[in-house]
Amino acid sequence: MTDFVEVLVSAAMAARERAFAPFSEFLVGAALETEHGDIWTGCNVESASYGLTICAERVALVKAVSDGQRQFRRIAVVADTEHLTPPCGACRQLLWEFAPGAEVILANLTGKRATYRVAELLPHGFDARLLVSG
Ligand code: THU
Repeated sequence: MTDFVEVLVSAAMAARERAFAPFSEFLVGAALETEHGDIWTGCNVESASYGLTICAERVALVKAVSDGQRQFRRIAVVADTEHLTPPCGACRQLLWEFAPGAEVILANLTGKRATYRVAELLPHGFDARLLVSG
């Protein structure tokens, strides 16, 4: 792992501390690296409706996109689990649409790490190219 990956994981750990997860008590942090090496972070934000809960990965992504970022290299995802926590299906879909070539670095609090590509996590993804019929 390169040093910058550890910087990204540290940013995700710090974001995780800000998670709003009173219902699940499952805290997740994410840190998304742009093509220029800048970092946007996110944490999960839960709703009393449960269904409106948004994951850390999508929070990081929509924050970055709404601030004008469009190209991403990597995203780190941190949770306090022995078995590393991967992005859910909804997050995989948005990552595929905005960051198909990105690496996804999964990390926990005890130094365990694993790296995947978005396309590995979502094979045969649906995206805007398929909206053209015929
Ligand atoms: N969660 C994330 O933020 N990211 C993931 O990759 C998995 C799940 C959140 C959603 C919810 O607040 C809590 O973890 C339990 O599912």
